[in-house]
Amino acid sequence: MPGGGRRDRAAAGPGADSSGGATEHSPRASTPAATLAVAELYKTFNGGTVNEVRALRGVSLDLPPGAFLVVLGGNGSGKSTLLSAIAGTFRVDAGRIHLADQEVTAWPEHRRARLIGRVFQNPFTGTAPHMSIAENLALAARRGQPRDLRWALSHRFRAELRDRVRQLQMGLEDRLDNAIGSLSGGQRQALTLLMATWRNPALLLLDEHTAALDPKSAEQVIGLTREMVARHRLTTLMVTHSMQQAANLGDRIVILHQGAVAYHFEGADKQRLRVEDLLARFEELRRRDLLDASAAALLQQTYL
Ligand SMILES: Nc1ncnc2c1ncn2[C@@H]1O[C@H](COP(=O)(O)OP(=O)(O)OP(=O)(O)O)[C@@H](O)[C@H]1O
Ligand SMILES: [Mg+2]
Repeated sequence: MPGGGRRDRAAAGPGADSSGGATEHSPRASTPAATLAVAELYKTFNGGTVNEVRALRGVSLDLPPGAFLVVLGGNGSGKSTLLSAIAGTFRVDAGRIHLADQEVTAWPEHRRARLIGRVFQNPFTGTAPHMSIAENLALAARRGQPRDLRWALSHRFRAELRDRVRQLQMGLEDRLDNAIGSLSGGQRQALTLLMATWRNPALLLLDEHTAALDPKSAEQVIGLTREMVARHRLTTLMVTHSMQQAANLGDRIVILHQGAVAYHFEGADKQRLRVEDLLARFEELRRRDLLDASAAALLQQTYL
């Protein structure tokens, strides 16, 4: 990152590169205690080719401990890329990531995984389908430690397991030895959520984790998410396409657009937001794009 301290850059508005336009509420300068501080992240895929995509274009955000951020944005706006950048799935081109008081920008994914719990959209990601519920949870509980599954079968662990699985209220406590692949999508996502939060991660990343579920299961899993986040005071970043979820959950929202933060709401502004307000922001972005497109077409007609 050329010049400028992390705090300064985080407080700055959209850079010259940000075609997303005005930021309604610029992210505030981070407090020293921020659990997650993301400063000016850039990521381009297939740079220099016809397939070049500038997926992140200067994204900055700070989450204090216990913050719950909902990330909205159209298809391809950079939401999953942002989560992957934080999780360390790839290295960013520029920018810095601080997590739980450590700079993790150069850390490989497996090292960051000790601090991060992650749930994906696909209920089949993140679990071993042929292993039982108990074995999957034992792996999650022992993450980063020697994988001795005999321990998983100990009475004490099984009692804790049964207790935590019962709290999911999905009737799975009597099916601990069933293969996880035999469960419904909703049950699997509930278990994946339990696995991701078992060791109280510094950061919980949820990428449209209810998008593949039927409405009733989605509602159940959202209820569980709300409960777990509150119970363990987890710092959370949740991607969703549901305006309803965004309005109902969390204490802050960002809307990504073309790889940049277009809007950021927190505090009373967030609490006041309704679904209609969010839809209006999306409409604003759409109009801006149309204007950009027609301006570009006009320029082309005039000068080419
Ligand atoms: N590994 C990759 N290689 C090439 N391009 C990629 C890669 N990952 C993402 N992209 C591109 O980067 C852009 C942002 O993608 P991303 O997956 O972050 O969007 P998203 O906001 O999560 O969208 P969706 O709502 O559809 O999940 C898209 O144009 C996408 O095609
Ligand atoms: Mg995505």
